[in-house]
Amino acid sequence: MDIIRDYNLKQHNTFGVEANAALCTVIRSVNDLKEVITENRSIKKELYPLGGGSNILLTGDLDKWVLINELLGIEVVKENGEVVVLEVSSGENWHQFVVYCLERGWYGLENLSLIPGSVGASPIQNIGAYGVEVKDFIESVHYLDLVSGEEHHLENDEMKFGYRNSIFKNELKGTVFITRVRFKLHKSPEVNIKYKALIDEIESRGISNPSPKDVSDAVIAVRRSKLPDPLVIGNSGSFFKNPVVAKSVLEKIQNNYSDVPFYPAEEGSVKLAAGWLIEKAGWKGFRDGDIGVHEKQALVLVNYGKGRGEDIKDLSSRIISDIHEKFGVLLEREVNIL
Ligand code: EPU
Repeated sequence: MDIIRDYNLKQHNTFGVEANAALCTVIRSVNDLKEVITENRSIKKELYPLGGGSNILLTGDLDKWVLINELLGIEVVKENGEVVVLEVSSGENWHQFVVYCLERGWYGLENLSLIPGSVGASPIQNIGAYGVEVKDFIESVHYLDLVSGEEHHLENDEMKFGYRNSIFKNELKGTVFITRVRFKLHKSPEVNIKYKALIDEIESRGISNPSPKDVSDAVIAVRRSKLPDPLVIGNSGSFFKNPVVAKSVLEKIQNNYSDVPFYPAEEGSVKLAAGWLIEKAGWKGFRDGDIGVHEKQALVLVNYGKGRGEDIKDLSSRIISDIHEKFGVLLEREVNIL
């Protein structure tokens, strides 16, 4: 177990901003992790697990001990004619895992193709796209308590999954290192194509009875057409959550914009599209030096090169105030600000 001082994190955050971690260790086994936890009883730094770095914004150097997750391995723990149960180490790349499953005829995750990040991060924010959320395929999660070093596991119904939310963003925030995620996938090639953009893409390809691979290909095409590739333009996907508001707030917006998109939410409320609000407020394509709002999807803030995390955070604050003023809606950041 090596400890690196003043470790540059530019390659470890998809925004591509410059920042150093006070300490850094690459975690290749659960044993490495246990050694760090023991060592930290005297060093006493905050431990910070890092997967793909695709949901963070670094606003300066981190006075933390960053743990880069390279726990790898995919194991079949149960299989029959209908389902397969897999135990996947948390450092595996999410998209490569989705492709691995598709190639073997294990289905369910195809709508989540091309989401950046690691398998271990997927339950934290309950990743979702094109009508599917990962919570519907997760059986359980194993983690290590970062203080005691003890191993624990949680079953699906204990993780309080919600829209881009789970116990790991609340009660357990900052206290665990997820080591393994157990998925249950199905073998029948039934697909989920309720999302308008996905239906349009599949139709445009002249496909009438899409296979899971067709759905994955279509998802990849739709994502590529709207979302910037972090390897080309730094970004963290959706910067804000889609806000859930009272119906009365929607009605007020409808007075000026009859075409405002909205989706059903809990009784008496609706979910609005933050990207739509930001676009209508005139921010889409906004650029100030090397930072800005993506020109094809206003929910995505971007770093064109040398943008600073602090400036991206300030831009997000300006957008939040403006949307509040114009629509009476308070946007919440989806990305973790560090
Ligand atoms: N819209 C605009 N202007 C924009 C962006 C969106 O008018 O600049 C409108 C669209 O026309 C559409 C509605 O807003 O009517 C929704 O847009 P879209 O289908 O692109 O999805 P989204 O709500 O903006 C969410 C997720 C994405 C996910 C897509 C597809 C959140 C915060 N974001 O975006 O997730 O890929 O749906 O399911 O829920 C991510 O979390 O990083 C992410 C990219």
